Amino acid sequence: MSILIKNIKELVQVEYEPKHRAAGSEMAELATIRDAFLIIEDDRIAFFGKMDDLGEMLGVINNSWLKVIDASGKMVFPCWCDAHTHLVFPASREVEYIDKIRGLSYEEIAKKGGGILNSARRTQETTEKKLYQDAMERLQEIVSFGTGAVEIKSGYGLTTESELKMLRVIKHLKEASPVTIISTFLGAHAVPQEYKSDPTAYTDLVINEMIPQVAAEELADYIDVFCDRGFFSVEDTDRILNAGMKYGLRPKIHANELGLTGGVQVGVKYNALSVDHLEHLGDEEIAVLKDAETMPTVLPGASFFLGIPYAPVRKMIDAGLPVAMASDFNPGSSPSGNMQFVLSMGCIQYKMLPAEAINAVTINGAYAMGLQEELGSIAVGKKANVFITREIPSIEYMPYAYGSNKVETVILGGKVIR
Ligand code: NIG
Ligand code: FE
Repeated sequence: MSILIKNIKELVQVEYEPKHRAAGSEMAELATIRDAFLIIEDDRIAFFGKMDDLGEMLGVINNSWLKVIDASGKMVFPCWCDAHTHLVFPASREVEYIDKIRGLSYEEIAKKGGGILNSARRTQETTEKKLYQDAMERLQEIVSFGTGAVEIKSGYGLTTESELKMLRVIKHLKEASPVTIISTFLGAHAVPQEYKSDPTAYTDLVINEMIPQVAAEELADYIDVFCDRGFFSVEDTDRILNAGMKYGLRPKIHANELGLTGGVQVGVKYNALSVDHLEHLGDEEIAVLKDAETMPTVLPGASFFLGIPYAPVRKMIDAGLPVAMASDFNPGSSPSGNMQFVLSMGCIQYKMLPAEAINAVTINGAYAMGLQEELGSIAVGKKANVFITREIPSIEYMPYAYGSNKVETVILGGKVIR
């Protein structure tokens, strides 16, 4: 099956020599073709160019089996790559939302037994089937906003059995959904109540029991630790990442959400694929990230929802760093997986130019999942995960018109999904 999308008002994020990621001033570069066509063959991007050249192209390819979509007035983008979510979870947590409005902090709510531990208790009580069904619905919702690839973490299990249950749910989602899914083991998300007097014993459990089983069943692509004040120390994180490395699990960690805790440094030490959150980031951390292979990944939804500082993204880009943006979709700190809203927050709160924000949620998001060869731009040979907008006046309208869905048609792996 092949698809021709013709009369595209603007084809966005085209690449002839695909790059791995965009850093510093490159983030403001966004190549586009006006009045364009795009041809998809099977699940791949096969050709693209200007409408003027389409006639010649149609002479070269066998077009009798083409499905033709007329995109007059509409734009085509590569689907968003959301590199940090917790979208498998048992229930929403509006009660804490009210506590937050009344003035309690994220850490105070966690201390009251709310937060991650609340979700963990409910995950333990919820069947694999129910977790799967709810997560599948959330996946469908994020696709409707244009997401085509997503990372999903465990971390609401906090027992070996429940962590494995979550990872099996993610595995089944991978098998059943057209979305490209990456799975991350986050056993070290919070210390369960019964280990409060001896948190090291929980770290030992993660290392000695969980990691070997996760690896034996090949349930995770990456490993994560919530390395932050009140959660896991740098020493615990170091031990866990070291253990993960022995099983070939590269880190993607939570770092510097609640303070300057050394998370960035320990992440880079283990060549983490990404360090995520970064609401607290000083010159020292920026220097450590410079020239590292680690993608700094920021989560504006968490800052918006929790009312905590925003990561200093303008400073990071001006210092030459690459930046990825992700939704952090989860019930406690960011109950939305809408990447169009993430884009809007990036522009307003981080002072990113629309082109910088788009690079942050496409090619840099793909890099932060290890998918940069496959996704994140319109390039020949890449997987055909693209969306067609409704009629919009400009690329900048995408972040500008926050709150309304600008995505009309989504194509994943060369198939029209919606
Ligand atoms: O990325 N910071 C740690 N983990 C999640 C929140 C999880 C929760 O509150 O349920 C986050 O924000
Ligand atoms: Fe998170």
